[in-house]
Amino acid sequence: MGSRTAYIRSVGRFLPEKRLTNEDLEKMVDTTSEWILTRTGIRERRILEPGLGNSYMAVRAARECLERAQVSPEEIEVIIVGTITPDMPFPATACLVQKELGASRAWGFDLSAGCSGFIFALSTAAQMIESGGQEKILVIGSDVMSRIMDYQDRNTCILFGDGAGAVLLEPCPDKDHGILDYIHHTDGSGGDLLCLKAGGSLRPPTLESVRNREHYVRQQGSQVFKYAVKEMAQVSGAILERNGLTGEDLALFLPHQANLRIIDACAQRMGIDRDRVIINVDRYANTTAGTIPLCLYDALVEQNRVKKGDYLVMSAFGAGFTWGSVLLRWW
Ligand code: UT7
Repeated sequence: MGSRTAYIRSVGRFLPEKRLTNEDLEKMVDTTSEWILTRTGIRERRILEPGLGNSYMAVRAARECLERAQVSPEEIEVIIVGTITPDMPFPATACLVQKELGASRAWGFDLSAGCSGFIFALSTAAQMIESGGQEKILVIGSDVMSRIMDYQDRNTCILFGDGAGAVLLEPCPDKDHGILDYIHHTDGSGGDLLCLKAGGSLRPPTLESVRNREHYVRQQGSQVFKYAVKEMAQVSGAILERNGLTGEDLALFLPHQANLRIIDACAQRMGIDRDRVIINVDRYANTTAGTIPLCLYDALVEQNRVKKGDYLVMSAFGAGFTWGSVLLRWW
């Protein structure tokens, strides 16, 4: 890492009001509330109301983040939005957020890395700050998964929800704190196991693609499950080892929220007991790029559990495949 580090100065979130419960899903597909709860740990998820897009959530998360830090939108230099559900293919959601926030000096872009979108964006932004090039960056993870769910497919529609989280990154006053390290990976050979086949340049929308329901997420759940456990535990172990730490040293583990069984298996492999793991999959399900900043919000704001000097690891696994971990020492 360079001569300075970046630190997370503030956090904000947006969760739509509407709740879709397991009981609601029982009426929509051939499932039971009990099956969903025992196989995934999910009880309910949030759904954004029709007519609103990703930027609606991203802007609200960003506003809360800036208000908490008492930083004005004009001070922001860069906006990065991790997402796979932009308002539209282009312009980027970051541009819509820039306009709506009134971040008149900011440039920005979207980053597409599935459920790893937020941690990939976070480490990208941290590098910009470490290099000395930027001073204030908004990193947002936001996804409206309900818009790409097939509510006739019980394999996937029970798993996902909508939500957004935002953080403000600045240079850390002490370079032994802040974002200390990251390890990220991509393995494109897993692409077909979790994807949305149509709607891009290869298979533009046609009547046929709509009829075939190809604009919805398809997932081979049990195969993705095995990869997720193995790789999230491996990469989180590797980042600890590289920094001379063990699971014992961690104050909190903030894992991607895809399935409670994945979270438990990772934590167990890393030697971290459950009371040091942030879990909200029961309330929000898998919000893709939203999960990790929503976990951070819970830890910081809702539970007031993070203090200066604490070591935190964030870890995600998602479509691509993409996965990785970020190590922070809280400032
Ligand atoms: O964020 C990106 C990463 N994504 C993930 O990490 C998600 C990974 N996958 C999972 O979370 C799990 O694999 C699932 C929750 C999707 C499925 O759990 P599983 O223990 O892997 O079950 P399975 O896929 O092996 O399926 C078991 C059975 C199947 O029936 P048969 O073939 O054994 O008769 C499924 O058809 O459960 C059936 N099933 C359901 N039954 C009731 C699948 N979905 C449902 C459902 N309700 N909603």
